[in-house]
Amino acid sequence: MVQPRSGGGAIPARSTIPIPQALSGAIDDDKRQPAAAAGALREGGILAGMSSTHPDSSAEPAPPASLAAATDSMPTAGAPPTRSVILTGDRPTGPLHLGHYAGSLRSRVDLQHVHDQTILIADLQALTDNTGRPIDLRGNIRELVLDYLAVGIDPAVTTIAVQSGLPELAELTVLYLNLVTVARLERNPTVRAEIVLRGFSRALPAGFLAYPVSQAADITALRATLVPVGDDQLPMIEQTNEIVRRLAQLAGRSVLPECQALLSDTPRLPGTDARKASKSLGNAIALSASPDEIRAAVRAMFTDPGHLRASDPGRVEGNVVFAYLDAFDEDRAEVERLKEHYRAGGLGDSVVKRRLEDLLQALLAPIRALREQFAADPGAIETLLREGTARTRKTAAGVLSDVREVFGLDR
Ligand code: TRP
Repeated sequence: MVQPRSGGGAIPARSTIPIPQALSGAIDDDKRQPAAAAGALREGGILAGMSSTHPDSSAEPAPPASLAAATDSMPTAGAPPTRSVILTGDRPTGPLHLGHYAGSLRSRVDLQHVHDQTILIADLQALTDNTGRPIDLRGNIRELVLDYLAVGIDPAVTTIAVQSGLPELAELTVLYLNLVTVARLERNPTVRAEIVLRGFSRALPAGFLAYPVSQAADITALRATLVPVGDDQLPMIEQTNEIVRRLAQLAGRSVLPECQALLSDTPRLPGTDARKASKSLGNAIALSASPDEIRAAVRAMFTDPGHLRASDPGRVEGNVVFAYLDAFDEDRAEVERLKEHYRAGGLGDSVVKRRLEDLLQALLAPIRALREQFAADPGAIETLLREGTARTRKTAAGVLSDVREVFGLDR
């Protein structure tokens, strides 16, 4: 379904920053680990389900799609574009970094022109894994929005909504909880991994165990059919579709569309020290990094510990500098030449790092500038969130009314 769009006038529509490749994936909290995703298809995977028709809720679980498929539906001469309703979500837990940009943000910038895209700021979900630890949600939300705007998310075409501003989601969650067993919740592999990671084993917050149900409410409330996520989120998509089917069973007819995961084609960008990129490890380059911070981060990047002299042959695999060049350097032929030279010996780290630093400075300078521009107008951010949330609420209220009816409640 097509949502009404309005720029809101708060922040003008802008042309987007040129991006090298379209890639997708979710921004995931850096403390979680991807769960083993059985049957996951990545790039070049199944292209089905990309049409504008919603999959029937009695159908088999929708397989994950790839971004290649999503952009295949870009308007081409003679063929009408097929639009999907896209929902992505982020927990507002801290500033976004280059890994988020490579894995998710730049693909959202592309997708927003092809599909009906909503980004949900999942502040209630952020509460579920921060129990007993107050986090600055208000500040984090503001920073998150600044990051979105700075990379070219255009509020005239992408709706940005705040989860806690949508009470319909809470009510949907309560209704859906009747369709899910505790045993099923406990089987969710991502939730299991997170329970271990967060040391919840002895005092598991009920809200945490149930967050996949709340995420099902997020997705279904918008009748989203395409959900760009990291593979750790595939179990959430699966549980969402189970709920959709249980609801259809209960109603004896299809009520809500099933959704499909849209998986990233890009490998996860490592941290500067080759470990998993994470705020807490201080090994990620923030989108808001200063020129000095960028320089220092590139200088300190992990390369090949065996590559002591420039004349030594070096390893490209596991070499963070090359991982970043792979993610951001548009001159693929030159990167391949550099790799060959590096492997053969005779190419010093400092030369490759210089190239990467120049590239990252050029990439982040306009992003930083836009961020500062938007940061100067906090009222505009409030307005766009209010309007995006209000728009989303209308859709959610329609879905809630349909679901209430299935449960025999007044609409
Ligand atoms: N769990 C998602 C994550 O941390 C965030 C999220 C919340 C989400 N609601 C969503 C993602 C709805 C997609 C759709 O990455």
